[in-house]
Amino acid sequence: MKLRSIELALPDPAAAAAFMTDVWGMAPADVIGTTHYLRGSGSYPYLVAFEQSADEFVRSTTFLCSAEELDGISGRAAAAGWPHRATVSEDPGGGHGLLVELPEGELLRFLVDAGEVEPIAGRDLPVKLTHVVFNSADAEASGLAVEEVLGFRVSDRTKGMVFVRCNDSHHSTAFARAGISSLNHIAFEMEDLDAVMRGIGRLRDHALAPAWGPGRHGPGANVYAYYIAPFGPVIEFSTAVEKVPDDYRVGAPEDWTWPENRIDQWGISDKDFAGLRRAEERFRFRRDWQDEAQGQ
Ligand SMILES: [Fe+2]
Repeated sequence: MKLRSIELALPDPAAAAAFMTDVWGMAPADVIGTTHYLRGSGSYPYLVAFEQSADEFVRSTTFLCSAEELDGISGRAAAAGWPHRATVSEDPGGGHGLLVELPEGELLRFLVDAGEVEPIAGRDLPVKLTHVVFNSADAEASGLAVEEVLGFRVSDRTKGMVFVRCNDSHHSTAFARAGISSLNHIAFEMEDLDAVMRGIGRLRDHALAPAWGPGRHGPGANVYAYYIAPFGPVIEFSTAVEKVPDDYRVGAPEDWTWPENRIDQWGISDKDFAGLRRAEERFRFRRDWQDEAQGQ
């Protein structure tokens, strides 16, 4: 199972795409109708889709999986009573699979037979998405639910987050203990530490400073820099999160404490808590498809 892409709806997709290509560092992949698709250097046809809509919302977060994994999710989602529907992707790469709605409304899409593309050169392009994190009213319940229904595994619990993996990377998603359900942030995996730092430099050229970072996280041990994108959501330059073995011991909040005045391994940056929180509340989830089982 692999995290591939996120599909967002927002009022001005062309402006969002222009920022991501001209400033952040992505390559245009395609424009279909009013939807702009952007790619990184890796083999996925796109990582982010921006579709035109009067409102801001997350249409889906897309994972690639095997037919066997899809079968398992399909059966367990039905048994758990989660809204779900078979789907054929009309996005670049195609593929088919299942849309499911998690208990707090997060919309995940699982695809099989989705095509990949030739990697391209570009040391300032992200390679792929490393994680998409959600805000959650009950992060603990969300973590347990995705273990049970999706076959994901909780890697670590901290005071603020429940980190979840779907392969041997420490986390591909996480649920923040936020009291609300929304998109927390989208993390772009850069080639290495230097690519993260050059990204910070590139944004500095455009008078943009990180809302948090650079720093190195505890769980996942990735180097990060978070920004509030001009088109709304929180986006992150990140190195790859660490790989973990199958028998990784699930950490508890008391395993992940910081000394006073530290919230990361380095302690060299401030965090704009209020600005980040506002941005994290902007993109909610909207299901515009009917539940197969319920007809609603
Ligand atoms: Fe992150």
